[in-house]
Amino acid sequence: MNVIVTESYEASAAWVADQICALIAAKPDAKLGLATGGTPVPVYRALIEACKEGRADFSAVRTVNLDEYWGLQPDNDQSYRYFMDTNLFDHINIKKENTYVASGLGDPQANCRALDAAVLEGGAPDLQLLGIGANGHIAFNEANPDRLIAPSHLEDLTPSTIQANSRFFDRPEDVPTKAITMGMAGIMAAKSVVLLATGASKVEAIRGLVMEDAVTTSNPSTLLKLHPNATVVIDRALADAV
Ligand code: GLP
Repeated sequence: MNVIVTESYEASAAWVADQICALIAAKPDAKLGLATGGTPVPVYRALIEACKEGRADFSAVRTVNLDEYWGLQPDNDQSYRYFMDTNLFDHINIKKENTYVASGLGDPQANCRALDAAVLEGGAPDLQLLGIGANGHIAFNEANPDRLIAPSHLEDLTPSTIQANSRFFDRPEDVPTKAITMGMAGIMAAKSVVLLATGASKVEAIRGLVMEDAVTTSNPSTLLKLHPNATVVIDRALADAV
């Protein structure tokens, strides 16, 4: 696992955006695995800028997203489909039909099979972008004392994750308690993985990932230690705190 320490979160985001621009310059039909949450937003802003300035062409790029809240319509402003459209897809020259975000409605089993098919269709993602939860979860593969789940599945979110997500919702009762998530197998299938993290709430999780040798279900991100091409990008403030 590579660890990149940058001078600032902005520099981290710029570094990740540059990696993505270089990838799609070399492979115009590259497949990107994308993430939601606050952390990747500056990466998406940098990609929008690069596209506007003609430094990135998304016309043949394909994407698949990690997860989607269960029970939200795609046009709900808290859904991850809405997040991706408004934070990235609506502002770059990507074809909407080349973007995949799992459905959070209908038959969960069918939606999970469809997500796993989308991960592998035409080849696994060339680059999977990840954030990390305070408890080490990646996508919505929750921290767990005894097991992680390989295929995509409907996950019961932990109270701490529901609490962390509640900052985006007007009323606590609106915060979803379940989500469809890519499983650990889908994430590990990516040809490269880039995990971006910043902030004091991520210190424990990043310590387990970069300072300790254990691979443990209680910090799902530690599975990335087994990936042949995983990079963790953190800023100096976070690195100093771990
Ligand atoms: C959610 C998402 C994760 C994300 C995490 C952290 O749980 N499913 O993909 O990494 O939030 O979010 P943030 O970047 O806002 O801290």
